[in-house]
Amino acid sequence: MTGEIVARYTTNRSDLIFLFRVDRSIMTIQPGTPITALDTPQLLIDLDGVDRNLKRMFDAAKKYGVNVRVHFKSLKCTGLARYILERGANGFLAAKLNEAEALVDAGITDVIIANQLIGPIKLKRLAELAKRGSVRVCVDDAENVAQIAKAAEAAGTTIGVLVEVDVGMHRCGVAPGEPALELAKVIRKYPSLRFEGLQGYDGHLQYIPDIAERERRCREGIKSFIATRHLIEAAGIPVGNVTGAGTGTWEFIASTPGITEIQPGSFVLMDAVYNTLRPEFPITQSIITTVISRAPGQYILDAGSKAISKDFGSPAVKGRPNDKVMKLAEEHAIVESADPNVKIGDRFEVYSAHCCATMNLHRTCIGVRKGVVETVWPIESSGRYD
Ligand SMILES: Cc1ncc(COP(=O)(O)O)c(C=O)c1O
Repeated sequence: MTGEIVARYTTNRSDLIFLFRVDRSIMTIQPGTPITALDTPQLLIDLDGVDRNLKRMFDAAKKYGVNVRVHFKSLKCTGLARYILERGANGFLAAKLNEAEALVDAGITDVIIANQLIGPIKLKRLAELAKRGSVRVCVDDAENVAQIAKAAEAAGTTIGVLVEVDVGMHRCGVAPGEPALELAKVIRKYPSLRFEGLQGYDGHLQYIPDIAERERRCREGIKSFIATRHLIEAAGIPVGNVTGAGTGTWEFIASTPGITEIQPGSFVLMDAVYNTLRPEFPITQSIITTVISRAPGQYILDAGSKAISKDFGSPAVKGRPNDKVMKLAEEHAIVESADPNVKIGDRFEVYSAHCCATMNLHRTCIGVRKGVVETVWPIESSGRYD
């Protein structure tokens, strides 16, 4: 497996050489090893839990008649992506070009890049990638559309394009209605482009704690997105795909007529924060750690902010609701605990406060079932931002 990782990249970037070195050190872990025999810290993924989360999402999506395109930025790992594809995903979303490249390199070719790609270097990469897979990209600017068309033409290929609509997040995207229609018309002028539909992500709603309020705002916000679809169709332009939603809003969007696809990512792995908002998806990602020091009222674990994301709140110790992760230093977690029985050498699993960012911190993850190693996967897109 180590050889494969090196072979995949022809660059001499130092971070990728680092990826290889770290992977080599854990490639000795054999399937069948109990997690009690692993060195710590390590990133674990509970595959039985993943199976349950996928089944719940895919069964519900079938009921609503929508596809599920899983967001690869939550995984960054093509081994896990393949595992998910085999269990019924309809393709993947990518946040960055390198994620789409990793997927296509792994033979997973149905990818939408939910982001704007700007500049000739990226557009050349995009056009080359489009020759190898069904890779589409989102746009919100007519000049960018012209540049994508030029790159596709130069590469002798065509590229699928979705108009990104700002459904209230105010990140990227054109306003719903006429601006989206105008951009769809621009796309259709270029023979090297295919207008494939609309992308609208309600990221501003995912973490609203009150679910009734989240649903109300989601259903209200989605109206203009669906109306945009109808406006474009009324102009005689077919809209093949209307895609949106995250783990926090998935079923409100999935049950909206006019939506064809949802694109959540976090529901696969989950974390201590998202789980409070979506308890129906148990946490399947953890970092196995060792207690390395003790003092009255607290213990110290051998993993900190370099292994556990605290992006969105406090990490938690699995199965120990009374213990509180007070602080993450780079290589230490300081945990407040009234339990006098915790000893140096004890091993606890920690849930991060952001599963996607935690995948970004590690070079490999270990798939486990019932406490036993089943597989070790490289996380090819971790540490990358291109
Ligand atoms: C465009 C887009 N779609 C979908 C998602 C998935 O969201 P979640 O991780 O909440 O499932 C994200 C998350 O950032 C996103 O940026």
